[in-house]
Amino acid sequence: MDYKVKDIGLAEKGEKLVRWAEQHMPVLMSIRKEFKKEKPLQGIRIAACLHVTKETAVLIETLKKGGAMVALTGSNPLSTNDGVAAYLAKNGIHVYAWRGNHDKYYWCIEQALKIKPHVTMDDGGDLITTLHTRKQALIKDVIGGTEETTTGVNRQRAMEKNGILQYPIIAVNDAMTKYLFDNRYGTGQSSIDGILRATSILLAGKKFVIAGYGWCGRGLAMRARGMGAHVIITEVDEIRALEATMDGFDVMKMERAAGIGDIFVTVTGNKHVIDAKHLKKMKDGAIVANSGHFDNEINVEWLEKNAVKKEEIRKNVTEYTLKDGRKIYLLAEGRLVNLAAAEGHPSEVMDMSFSNQALAVKWLVANDGKLKNKVYKVPDEIDREVARRKLASMGIEIDKLTKKQIEYMRGWKEGT
Ligand code: ADE
Repeated sequence: MDYKVKDIGLAEKGEKLVRWAEQHMPVLMSIRKEFKKEKPLQGIRIAACLHVTKETAVLIETLKKGGAMVALTGSNPLSTNDGVAAYLAKNGIHVYAWRGNHDKYYWCIEQALKIKPHVTMDDGGDLITTLHTRKQALIKDVIGGTEETTTGVNRQRAMEKNGILQYPIIAVNDAMTKYLFDNRYGTGQSSIDGILRATSILLAGKKFVIAGYGWCGRGLAMRARGMGAHVIITEVDEIRALEATMDGFDVMKMERAAGIGDIFVTVTGNKHVIDAKHLKKMKDGAIVANSGHFDNEINVEWLEKNAVKKEEIRKNVTEYTLKDGRKIYLLAEGRLVNLAAAEGHPSEVMDMSFSNQALAVKWLVANDGKLKNKVYKVPDEIDREVARRKLASMGIEIDKLTKKQIEYMRGWKEGT
């Protein structure tokens, strides 16, 4: 059994976390029960590059119950829970992940690929890009892959557009039961959680600047407002900017917000959204964090070059003292603050995201050979099944259309 984790002795600690997550992931657990009986993934080898969290462990164990052999690597150097990694390694998963594996990040991906996957699972696309660049010989065995996040789906759509995508991908991110809940309520809550665990500051009354009003930005804005912060949105998209305005937030250019904000969070999926010119304008004591997938949303290199002093003042808080004496506080190296400084999205939303993952893999395997080298949506039936099961797990019943209502909706004659 091959694996590389920080300390296998942490397995018991990890197991407790995983049991806690299972308790809050009823939909995925119901799928696990079916997988155990039906074995839809018998003989399938899966290489996954996901944040190694307690929720991911629930997914991985479900895939294993379905008959799959799984290799797992982390999708960010700071998002691995070492206890969870140890627990999985002890239970037959080829895990190559530990918190702080910056220098060995791609080595870990390459180890996971040694399984010769039939299915790839990405969160951000680093595994699939490794396969398409340095490990092309392995592609012949691949049936398809899944992608968890917006950034990854963007990358894979670019691969499709450039004609280099060599197997079908299911964009799990684009399922409604994923982005409407995980991106919005998950990122909203867990980013606040990360900022508070790292800083322990009061949010009430603070000027809280959010770059990006996609689903993650919307959720974060909603939650920051709920904590009493004065929320400012920066956007490049006119429709989203208008939406943020009518949702009651102040919308302005980052150049202006830079001089006003107490806390800044980027959730755009784009590069250097907080750049040198913004950092130069920030107030003494400004706190800067990122909740987008990659650590390039903030120009950290500028801080590194221009600081006269750098000190880790608290766990996950780096104090940069600039030449003019101002101090800027960067959280979690500018990496996903919700995962690096907290535990990522809560289990209840990952329940839906990862149920889509599990059912998407089953669907991919069942449709082996029938799909093109394209990015596919999660089939609507899977998306709705996840919603139905989630509602049932919450004890919520909803109405059904009557026959008359169905006929009415299909008709056109009945009017005023
Ligand atoms: N992405 C965001 N939160 C996560 C979590 N809890 N587990 C896995 N991936 C995540």
